[in-house]
Amino acid sequence: MKSNNVKNGFVPISENLTLFEKDLSKLEKIRYLDTPNSFYKEAAYSKKIDGKYTYYYLFSKIKSRDYIEGSGYLTHGFDFYQGSFHAQMIRGLINSCNLEENSIILDPFCGCGTTLIESKLLNFNSIGIDINPIACLNSKIKTELLDINTEILKNNNEKFFDLTYYSFLKEFDNFFDILNLDIRTLFFIFLYTRAISDHYYILKNMNKAFIDNYHNIIATLLKFNILKKSIDLPMGKTKIYHSDNLKRLHQFKSNSIDAIITSPPYIDLIDYISNDLNQIKIFLNESQIKYLRLLSIGNKFSKFSQTEKIYWYKMERVFYKIFDILKPNHHFILIIGDYKNMKEKFLKLSKKIGFKTERVLLRKIINKKDRISYEHVLFLLKV
Ligand SMILES: C[S@@+](CC[C@H](N)C(=O)[O-])C[C@H]1O[C@@H](n2cnc3c(N)ncnc32)[C@H](O)[C@@H]1O
Repeated sequence: MKSNNVKNGFVPISENLTLFEKDLSKLEKIRYLDTPNSFYKEAAYSKKIDGKYTYYYLFSKIKSRDYIEGSGYLTHGFDFYQGSFHAQMIRGLINSCNLEENSIILDPFCGCGTTLIESKLLNFNSIGIDINPIACLNSKIKTELLDINTEILKNNNEKFFDLTYYSFLKEFDNFFDILNLDIRTLFFIFLYTRAISDHYYILKNMNKAFIDNYHNIIATLLKFNILKKSIDLPMGKTKIYHSDNLKRLHQFKSNSIDAIITSPPYIDLIDYISNDLNQIKIFLNESQIKYLRLLSIGNKFSKFSQTEKIYWYKMERVFYKIFDILKPNHHFILIIGDYKNMKEKFLKLSKKIGFKTERVLLRKIINKKDRISYEHVLFLLKV
């Protein structure tokens, strides 16, 4: 009876779902079996369920960036962070965990906050940790702006448009204090860092970049404010820590986290600190940046063998801690690009630590220039 309902009540989000999307679409429907009346608020791969438009479909109409389908909606498109997740997939993965109300989701390598944003939109609390201050700033802005009344960003804001204003950031000794500034000031600091990034990466004039990004972001938020008034959308809370995760994870209690969804840094592929160096420099001095590099997992040493050895040594420690803080019978979902046999190595490490591999899915990625790559999604269970 139920399976008939499932078949008849669902209009897929696209006629051309890939094999991976069809698989994840099946997995996320576990929520429908438990709570059929509210699944339209959660589903990632349906356009309509039992005659109602899904929230995902409504969100996806509010584009913040002209980008690959499923990634540039709401606040997801506010920044450029290398290696960021496919947001629609993360939504499907969270659903597949079938979490109870008030669950806490952790991303110990949170990057620009994709897991945190989708957790919030699905009304789960989440925690993100990243060593890169720009990742933390972006994650904080992109999660908190979902809650905000846009008017507070629009009124009496003239001083923020003079880019010399941001010289005050040099007076801070600690990035923690910057991250804890009020959301309005932090929003304009974020725009300043985006202008720096646009200046270096797409050779755009900084003032023009600042103003263009301001208008695009405000336009997106205004649309979201209107949507929020027409739907019932309780949202979760987010905590973001700028820290070495090895250090921070030790402060978590055993068996306290309901799901972990993350992608690890790569050995020898993306240097996150160098990518954002021009932005990081406005917050940190040279010796602070040097220290961050040392703590970053994947940091390059002169010999590759040493880089690799330290990478796996640190990763093993992170995995032991992750295993400890995750509740039994709960999921750790790890997304890894198809690179240097890392999938096999992570599967081996997970097994050694005690995780059971429930399944591994392969996602084909076609980028803007029609280049194809793959990533593996590992569903690990703490047994
Ligand atoms: C693959 S990226 C994560 C991207 C993320 N999934 C997203 O959607 O943006 C890996 C992240 O790990 C972070 N990282 C590296 N070493 C770390 C450490 N010791 N503690 C915390 N974060 C770290 C990097 O700064 C980078 O943001």
